[in-house]
Amino acid sequence: MVSVPRLMVLGNVPRSMLGEGPIWLPESGVLYWVDIFGDRIHSLRLSDGFVKSIKVGPYPSCVMPNDDGNLVVTIKDKVVLVDPINGSVIRTLATVNEGAGNRFNDCKCDPMGRLVAGTMDMNERSPIGSLYILDSGGLRRILGSVTISNGIAWSSDASVMYYIDSPTRRISVFKYNVSEGALEGLIKHIDLSNMPGLPDGMTIDSEGYLWVALWGGGRVVRVNPINDNVVEQIELPAQYTTSCTFGGVDLKTLFVTTAMDESRQTSGPDGYVFSINLNVKGTVVNKCRF
Ligand code: BGC
Ligand code: CA
Repeated sequence: MVSVPRLMVLGNVPRSMLGEGPIWLPESGVLYWVDIFGDRIHSLRLSDGFVKSIKVGPYPSCVMPNDDGNLVVTIKDKVVLVDPINGSVIRTLATVNEGAGNRFNDCKCDPMGRLVAGTMDMNERSPIGSLYILDSGGLRRILGSVTISNGIAWSSDASVMYYIDSPTRRISVFKYNVSEGALEGLIKHIDLSNMPGLPDGMTIDSEGYLWVALWGGGRVVRVNPINDNVVEQIELPAQYTTSCTFGGVDLKTLFVTTAMDESRQTSGPDGYVFSINLNVKGTVVNKCRF
């Protein structure tokens, strides 16, 4: 029997300057991700390798599916609805009023279909960003004093929201009121400061463990959110691992996005998407309901 390599680079897809925000759509078997600095949303249909790139910007930082097949995308200071066929903006769903030095970063839909999206200081220094929630009632700010808003995930019963402000080097665990779409207090922080790099994008597997990409740490880690232990680490041949999501027919492939290093000169595989075959099943992202 030929053994399948555990870690592979998806070499036949576009390379990103700042690859981010992978999501898997099980109905179509398509993986989406963004290149924040390349102003592109990329997608790969796994069954036949069909790749598509659409231009959306500036700074497309996160892409989520909605109920009727369009894409909810965060760009610099806006949330927009995008046609996945041609990349045209159908309408603007929300605009935030922050300084010119801020932009949106990671987002996710909660189990009720609201969008939770955060902003960051593009200089990555000051806590001048926020976390917002968007639903049919409009946009609300649910957290302030954020420097680089990242990694968002919910427990399977949606009573807990996991969240990352990267420079804090920890995962914040909040009680989440899913019927209201509100944070109801901090439960604890999971400290990852003994790991290399800054915690960035995050997903949750079917056993309730968190998978976190470590920016500058060249790895993804699996974290037990009950006792805070890092139970697995998988190193990648790219230093700037940015985010991860589960996909593939059995939902046991972890797709990891990466960014090019600052010099953008390396001939290494940084900036590509990697796939890792795992023995654990993941979860699928929620769709936005607007
Ligand atoms: C941002 C990057 C940032 C990194 C640091 C990412 O989510 O998009 O711009 O450098 O987080 O953690
Ligand atoms: Ca991120």
